[in-house]
Amino acid sequence: MLILGIETSCDETSAAVVEETGDVARPWAIRSNVVASQVPIHREWGGVVPELASRQHIRDICGVVERALVDGKTSWSELGAVAVTQGPGLVGSLLIGLAFAKAAASAAGLPLVGVHHLAGHIESLVLHNGEIPLPAVVLIVSGGHTSLYLVQQPGRYELLSRTRDDAAGEAYDKVAKLLGLGYPGGPVIDRLAATGNDRAISLPTTRLTHVDRNAPELKGDLDFSFSGLKTAVLRYVRTHDGALTDREIADIAATFQRIVVTNLIERLFDAGRRYQARSLGIAGGVSANSRLRAELKTRGERREIPTFVPSLQLSTDNAAMIAAAGLRKFRAGMTSAFDINADAALAL
Ligand code: KG4
Ligand code: ZN
Repeated sequence: MLILGIETSCDETSAAVVEETGDVARPWAIRSNVVASQVPIHREWGGVVPELASRQHIRDICGVVERALVDGKTSWSELGAVAVTQGPGLVGSLLIGLAFAKAAASAAGLPLVGVHHLAGHIESLVLHNGEIPLPAVVLIVSGGHTSLYLVQQPGRYELLSRTRDDAAGEAYDKVAKLLGLGYPGGPVIDRLAATGNDRAISLPTTRLTHVDRNAPELKGDLDFSFSGLKTAVLRYVRTHDGALTDREIADIAATFQRIVVTNLIERLFDAGRRYQARSLGIAGGVSANSRLRAELKTRGERREIPTFVPSLQLSTDNAAMIAAAGLRKFRAGMTSAFDINADAALAL
């Protein structure tokens, strides 16, 4: 079966065609995965402007879907379903993809599958690597999320912990902004960090041990927090009068990156041990980070646990991962009614 995936939750308009392979170990193959990025539009504002994002999705959606079908050598009549991101994300952006998917599925007589954006990120691991050993602990780390999930059975995702404040990608973007490095911050800081000394300055690390008032059902000690670190960078920049040399900026980038990566890796491995995971994964935009990938690999090898990341193209938002998660749901007998609504805070 072939499925069309559509993703418009933030600032990328994406459509993809994914097919089932019939191989249980490697269930899906990408036929096409088209991403129209809005980064140049939002760069000017230093972050995503929701109103501009939804307007651009409207302009791009038809062309992006057509391109995905042409690149995937697929006609509407060959498709078996349409999968679309239902949430979470920017509601005005989600609505464009969802309205398009409903209209297209209805016109083509296809079932609709509403997909959780984070299920898509988790399934990007399987799309790229094939099925991974379960139980697995997966860290989703992006501009909007930093959460740990336990996957005991395919398609079942159990939240273990999350950030109490900023997402890691958001911290990257904010720190880059206050260092005058532009948007998005992740790739720039990643590049600069390689040239800096990651011990040159002193910045605080955060370890949360107390229970979160807002989510007492989560244990709390696997939670993340990045706003203190961001504020510490802000203070450092201010006390240096905003006149930092290129060398100092590289040192800040390297130190910031070391602390963020150490934090993410430690919680992931702690959770892996606690839940007796047979594999560990990292997905989402920040999983493109070079230090995070390298440390995951070396730690995994040292602890003799298999580790997985998606390809760089599947790390950031894309529709192929939504199509894959859609196929997983469809094969479990789950489709969506045509009156589902976009949900900015959809629970997984
Ligand atoms: O998953 P994604 O495309 O969108 C969301 O769902 O948020 O993630 C985008 C985030 C941005 O915050 C960006 O700065 C970050 O991923 N990012 C990186 C790197 N590449 C992208 N962060 C750190 N290092 C990178 N190499
Ligand atoms: Zn994402």
